[in-house]
Amino acid sequence: MGASSRISATTFTPIPTASAGTPSPGSAGGRLGWGQLAVMTTPLRILITGAIGQVGWELQRSLANLGTITAIDLAELDLTNADAVRKFVRDLRPDVLVNPAAYTAVDKAEAQSELAMAVNGVAPGIMAEEMAKLGGLMIHYSTDYVFDGTKQGAWVETDAPNPLSVYGRTKLAGEQAVQAAGGAHVILRTSWVYGRRGGNFMLTMIRLAKERDELRVVADQHGAPTWCRTLAAGTADIVARAWSDPAARAKARDLSGVYHFTNGGVTTWHGFAAAIVATAPELADRRHVKVTPIATSDYPLPAPRPRNSVLDNSRLTATFGIRPVAWDESLRTCISEPG
Ligand SMILES: NC(=O)c1ccc[n+]([C@@H]2O[C@H](COP(=O)([O-])OP(=O)(O)OC[C@H]3O[C@@H](n4cnc5c(N)ncnc54)[C@H](OP(=O)(O)O)[C@@H]3O)[C@@H](O)[C@H]2O)c1
Repeated sequence: MGASSRISATTFTPIPTASAGTPSPGSAGGRLGWGQLAVMTTPLRILITGAIGQVGWELQRSLANLGTITAIDLAELDLTNADAVRKFVRDLRPDVLVNPAAYTAVDKAEAQSELAMAVNGVAPGIMAEEMAKLGGLMIHYSTDYVFDGTKQGAWVETDAPNPLSVYGRTKLAGEQAVQAAGGAHVILRTSWVYGRRGGNFMLTMIRLAKERDELRVVADQHGAPTWCRTLAAGTADIVARAWSDPAARAKARDLSGVYHFTNGGVTTWHGFAAAIVATAPELADRRHVKVTPIATSDYPLPAPRPRNSVLDNSRLTATFGIRPVAWDESLRTCISEPG
């Protein structure tokens, strides 16, 4: 990401709400939608990190109805600078801090474990400590890679983590640091995140399918591709539910914890790639591209991946009423948007 494409710390003022009851795109069937955010009486002061990342970008829009947003990325605040992080949060005094910023280069992390730990493992704890002192809410994101993939069936929040990679270990450390800070928090573990911008599997497959007549894609890892907008919309629902008024805030501490949040259904990287080649508008003349299933062992990478990344969303649904739509439905919506 070049410096020219960076945004400055950006403040958004609340925009008019959609008509009451408009469902949020990521949470079909959820009890709260963007339209219902009009019930917010006092606009919240919201800090979003990682603002030019996939999730951070979408959060700027999804949270806009809830209050005044300050959106920052690495150029405005390096999260590895603990003193600067503390000062930034103390000066801004946000009601809600949403932290999608992360060191997400899973393979590079194997050789950059200190940097990955500073961003993923340490910084979230510092932010959470400051938010605990302010009595605010922290929303943090984590990953399926905290698990080793050996379970038969979907992972639930009470399953024991056992990360296989540096990235997974640093993300697990971040979860633990947020929890240890003792403030109100929601940690959303997700998987296989993609969108129309940034670096992700969907965009990589589209690019490769334009260049090659065959894509060889791993077919023995299972998970749920998750649209960054699904996560952002659901995050807005959670903030509205947990932090909309004093009564909700009083209960929010009890809701604190880890929640699994992915789009619904299960596929493999191969199934995901095949769906991308079959539906991407820019591949209309490339539908003949062959998508060949291969084994993980045919495509060795520095960081081991879990074979089974499937996360069970039941706790999210039971607590916040969010029922994420199926991964292929979200893919169709996302991929049909202009690139
Ligand atoms: N992507 C996935 O497939 C996936 C899967 C499971 C969970 N997650 C989790 O979901 C969350 C959001 O992921 P994402 O895909 O939106 O990530 P992303 O697109 O990689 O965005 C992360 C953002 O964090 C910024 N960042 C990195 N180091 C920083 C630092 N030292 N100080 C400040 N900002 C820094 C990055 O800036 P630069 O671009 O300049 O580095 C980037 O803008 C993360 O917690 C991630 O671990 C992601």
